[in-house]
Amino acid sequence: MRKIALFTLLATALFSHAAMADQALAMRSGCLGCHKADAKLVGPAFQDVATKYADETGAVDRLADKVKAGSTQGEPLIWGAVAMPPSPAKLEDIKGVINWIMTMK
Ligand code: HEC
Repeated sequence: MRKIALFTLLATALFSHAAMADQALAMRSGCLGCHKADAKLVGPAFQDVATKYADETGAVDRLADKVKAGSTQGEPLIWGAVAMPPSPAKLEDIKGVINWIMTMK
């Protein structure tokens, strides 16, 4: 019994550590000024993004390219009235953040 409790505790600690690392990456990459996991801010909630693209193959690569380039002028906006500016973050970091986003569905 005690072993199980210890295991659960350890697993929880490991899991939240991983989630915190992802959150730190998102923070460092400048995403959290406009996005939140579970609520709309300037941009859509990450949970809503994950749900919308859950069935799309290659969504991570496509979205990462889009975040890097920013919402293109002339292209209709998907989530509202505001466009996303091009991201100064590294493409691999953006991919890391989007991989994390896609686990939120
Ligand atoms: C200045 C504010 C701002 C910043 C910073 C920002 N976003 Fe966004 N993001 C937006 C807005 C606004 C939209 C909605 C654009 C639209 O409706 O097409 C959006 C949309 C998105 C989408 C959905 C795109 C789609 O085609 O549906 C993803 C994924 C995303 N952002 C990820 C990120 C990540 C990852 C970062 C950090 C590297 C980031 N964003 C930084 C404002 C921002």
